[in-house]
Amino acid sequence: MNLTLKIWRQKDAKSKGKIVSYPISGISGHMSFLEMMDVLNEQLINEGQEPVAFDHDCREGICGSCSLHINGEAHGPDRGVTTCQLHMRMFKDGDTIFIEPFRAKAFPVIKDLIVDRTSFDRIQHAGGFISVNTSGNTQDANSIPIPKADADKAFDAATCIGCGACVASCKNASAMLYVSAKVAQFSLLPQGKVEAKDRVLNMVEQMDKEGFGNCTNTGACEVECPKGISLENIARMNNEYLKASITREA
Ligand code: SF4
Ligand code: FES
Repeated sequence: MNLTLKIWRQKDAKSKGKIVSYPISGISGHMSFLEMMDVLNEQLINEGQEPVAFDHDCREGICGSCSLHINGEAHGPDRGVTTCQLHMRMFKDGDTIFIEPFRAKAFPVIKDLIVDRTSFDRIQHAGGFISVNTSGNTQDANSIPIPKADADKAFDAATCIGCGACVASCKNASAMLYVSAKVAQFSLLPQGKVEAKDRVLNMVEQMDKEGFGNCTNTGACEVECPKGISLENIARMNNEYLKASITREA
C-alpha cells in the first residue's frame, strides 16, 4: 500500500504543534499500525530527519502505553483493539491517515504523539488499592466465598489497561469510565469493601483535581474502549459515591 500520513508534530510541551504530511510506501496489510510507524521512522532517520515520538511498550494490547487518535478515533477504526493491535488491512491503498495525540487538558502533549497520562497514576494512588497484610498470613482465595456474578464483574472491570482512550473519545474529556473501572474492580469483592467509601471519594476528588470533565452519558467512551469496559461501572460508581458522601456528612 502507498499511503499519505498526516501527523501531529510538536517539539515539546511549550511549542506550537502542526500537522505534517509524509508519503509512505510498501506497507503490508499484515503490519500493525505501530510497525507502519516504525517503517516511517526508519525512513525519517535515513533522511536525517527527526523520527516521530509515540508511546508503546508491550505491543500486544495489555500495557495501555500506546495511544493515538487515528482518523478521529482513539486507537483507530477497529473495535476492541489497541493501536498496537490495529492492522494496516483496515486501510486501503491510497488512503490518507490523520494521526494525532489523545487530546485532553489533563493529558498535556509532551512531544509529537506522546501525552502525559500521569494524572491517571495519581487517581490510582488516591485509592486504587487494598491495604492487606501480605507477610505470609494471606488467606487462601477459595476460603472467601464470592458470588460468581460479582467475581465476573470485578474481573471485567480489572481488564481496564488505563490507556485513556475513554478520555480522548469523550467530548467532555471525562475519565469516569476509567475511574469507575478502577473503583469497581475492588468494591465488588469482599477484600475491597473495607475501604470502599474512602476509595470512591478520594479517587473522584483526585479525578476532579486533575481537570477531567464530567460524564454526560454520551457513551463514546464505551464504544472506543479497547477492553469493552461497560458504562454500568459509571452507574455503580455514582451510586457508591452518593452513598459514601451521605454517610461522610452524617
Ligand atoms: S476504560 Fe477502556 S478506554 Fe478507558 S482507560 Fe480503561 S481500557 Fe482504556
Ligand atoms: S503497546 Fe501495550 S497496549 Fe499497545
